[in-house]
This record gives sequence, C-alpha cells and structure tokens, in this order.
Amino acid sequence: MKILIAYTSIEGQTRKIAEVIADRIEERGNSAALMNIAGMAEFSLERPDAVILCAPIHAGRYPTPFTDFVHREKDWLNGLPSAFVSVSLSIHSEHADERREAENYPEALKAETGWQPLMHHNAAGALRFTEYDFFKRWMMKRIAEKEGAASNGKQDIEFTDWAALAAFVDQFAEAAQKEQEAG
Ligand SMILES: Cc1cc2nc3c(=O)[nH]c(=O)nc-3n(C[C@H](O)[C@H](O)[C@H](O)COP(=O)(O)O)c2cc1C
Repeated sequence: MKILIAYTSIEGQTRKIAEVIADRIEERGNSAALMNIAGMAEFSLERPDAVILCAPIHAGRYPTPFTDFVHREKDWLNGLPSAFVSVSLSIHSEHADERREAENYPEALKAETGWQPLMHHNAAGALRFTEYDFFKRWMMKRIAEKEGAASNGKQDIEFTDWAALAAFVDQFAEAAQKEQEAG
C-alpha cells in the first residue's frame, strides 16, 4: 500500500511529525511519500492508496495554503481512505476549554471543506524559542504561561506524544488496508 503524507509546516514541528509518520509507515512494510503542500503549485503525484494530511494551528487557524489544498482536493480525498493530524499547543493545555477549542479545529475544517477523513488525531506541537525573533519569543512565552507550559523562553520544548502518534498511524494503516481489501 502506498500512503501519501502531505503537510504544511511553518516552524518545522509538523514537518517533523510528517517525517515520523512516514518512517512508521515504512517500518510497517508500506511505502510512504512525503509532500510539502506549500511547495506544490499543482498536485500531480501518482495516485496513492491512502492519504494522511498534517497541519498546524497558528493564531487560531490552519495555514491558508493548507485549507486551500483541502478545498481543492476534497473530492479526490473523499474517494480514498484518509486521515488528519492536527498540530496545536492548546491540545496540551491544562485548561479544559483550551483543549476543547483545539479538538474543535479538525471538526471545523471538515465542516468547512466537506473533507471526510476516516479518523483524526490531535497532536501537541512544540515551542521553538531558539528560532523565534524577539517579538514572537515574547508572545509565545506569554501563550505558554497561559497554557501552563512554564518556560524560561530560552529552550525549545517539544510536547508531541510520539507513542500516541505511532499508535494512531498503526490504527489508520490497518483501517486503510481493510478498506482496500474490501474494494
Ligand atoms: C505565531 C504562532 C502562533 C500560534 N498560535 C497558536 C494557536 O492559536 N493555538 C494553538 O493551539 N497553538 C498555536 N501555536 C502553536 C503551534 O501550533 C505549535 O508551535 C506547532 O508546533 C507549530 O507547528 P509548525 O512548527 O509545523 O509550524 C502558535 C505558534 C506560533 C509560532
């Protein structure tokens, strides 16, 4: 089975997540193709058997190139088994209302675009203080404090639960395989 992993990433964590997903798929004996959505003018890959899309939340929304892609490709996406990995910081928040907000982003995307993935996973992202400029570091330090992720604003913090992500990939690969066998 050939699985396409298409992602958008601004700070790099979603790209890392997509790469880990691709490795997991290959370890399972399937073939993985990685694609950066932002770098593609037209989608012209050989048709895969299944697709996993990954995108981060920045300032309360997915990046526009990503939502444009889902709008444009939703008919094609709905014709094969697909899954979504939504990356955010608030899914890791100690506040239930923030976590609920993060959980709602994929639901809102599905409602807005009509894309119907078989399943989705909410992954916690990362704070990359060492790569932020002064203003972004200041802003993200405040957001981190608000969400209970205490930080000195100097070291990067990665919140991604890699074991939960691997379990999700396994679950999706098995479901996609079953769909393919059922024809
Ligand atoms: C400028 C900026 C704005 C962000 N806004 C949000 C937000 O509104 N909600 C949230 O849950 N996470 C937010 N985050 C956290 C990102 O989702 C997290 O850092 C993620 O790892 C970014 O993925 P990327 O590295 O692939 O771009 C924001 C991060 C940055 C740098």
